[in-house]
Amino acid sequence: MHVKKVVLGVCSSISIYKACEIVRLFQKNSIQVQVIMTKNATKLISPLLFSSLTGRKTVVDPFQGEFQERIEHVSLAKEISLFLVAPATANIIGKFANGIADDFMSTFYMAIECPVLIAPAMNDAMFWHKQTQNNIQKLKDFGVNFVDPEKGYLACGDEGWGRLAAPEKIVEQGLFLMSKSLSLKGKTVLVTAGPTREYMDPVRFLSNLSSGKMGYAIADEAMRRGAKVYLVSGPTHLTVPKGTEIIKVETAEEMEKEVLKRFDLVDIVVMAAAVSDFKFSKPASKKIKKSGAPKSMSIIQTPDVLKKLGERKGKKILIGFAAETDNVVQNALDKIKQKNLDLIIANEASKAGIGFESDFNQVTIIYPDGKTVCTKKQTKDAISRIILDKIEEIVGQKNRKSIT
Ligand SMILES: Cc1cc2nc3c(=O)[nH]c(=O)nc-3n(C[C@H](O)[C@H](O)[C@H](O)COP(=O)(O)O)c2cc1C
Repeated sequence: MHVKKVVLGVCSSISIYKACEIVRLFQKNSIQVQVIMTKNATKLISPLLFSSLTGRKTVVDPFQGEFQERIEHVSLAKEISLFLVAPATANIIGKFANGIADDFMSTFYMAIECPVLIAPAMNDAMFWHKQTQNNIQKLKDFGVNFVDPEKGYLACGDEGWGRLAAPEKIVEQGLFLMSKSLSLKGKTVLVTAGPTREYMDPVRFLSNLSSGKMGYAIADEAMRRGAKVYLVSGPTHLTVPKGTEIIKVETAEEMEKEVLKRFDLVDIVVMAAAVSDFKFSKPASKKIKKSGAPKSMSIIQTPDVLKKLGERKGKKILIGFAAETDNVVQNALDKIKQKNLDLIIANEASKAGIGFESDFNQVTIIYPDGKTVCTKKQTKDAISRIILDKIEEIVGQKNRKSIT
């Protein structure tokens, strides 16, 4: 089994003792921890304590180590999934922000490519000093992540901001960053999810059974793979996947507007929403009374968002969904051609235990050349991983084509 590794950078802050708890919490999650300390930190706590907790020799100054040790540290830099600095002093934040690499920790920061998470700890005045705030902003602009310090009693006797965040909170944020592999880093993905509502009057509407679970699972997985994700969602009760930019809509027209607004910004569009095909041509502006019910109400078609996107898609990757009750594959193939899609994900809307509202799905992935891939029934999370693997294959193919 591949064991994930974290390098924990420990600086000379009064909250240094909390770093032991951080090590323990990672270990509870089966994550291997290697500790690096600044020289000043070793004046507050012995490196031996961390070596004993981690089972790995704590690194302070590899220039004094044996050659074999130095090699180990170089290879570690290539293998790690996260570099966490907790507690981070004002000093180390200043060094990172300004490219100073005069000790092992600051040199290590310059040499790695994995996500970096910093948990500052310092007194109120140091934290709010313009220089510190500037350095933090600079690092945020470089893509470094922060766990904000908390307000409370500080070691200097003051009450204020600057206390190291709780170890649980730091580790939770660390695990979240580690869970994202970076295969979609640099890509922007837009996912639509959920049903739409087409109002008959202010309190009644035409909708469908979509729960939004499939689209939300895809958005979550795209986030984990490092993409920037816009999630344009119809009404659902689901928790928004952490890190996605959510845009809530109700009607098909609102969904069309929000998708088109962002279309130029994205590389991949996955239209998993169950957009209503019809709407009332003249919705009433006030609640229709039982006594005054109209004999009939006419419905008209809503805008065909997918078709519009297909017409202007250029080099983007466009994926559609088709929930059919019969002739699933043939209908999906027709839709691919009509709407200029790269893939269509078809499922049988009438099959019990999958599709709408369920946590499970079973889909057929259909390519423009007629090739089909059928999945077995599995969770929507698992299906979302299969779909994103297929999308990544298409990204790879398009990249190769544009090079040759
Ligand atoms: C007991 C003690 C506690 C300290 N606590 C903090 C702190 O919480 N945050 C901070 O930024 N500096 C703190 N300092 C000051 C730093 O240790 C000092 O700026 C040092 O140069 C930072 O070195 P380092 O970043 O290499 O560990 C503390 C100093 C002492 C002696």
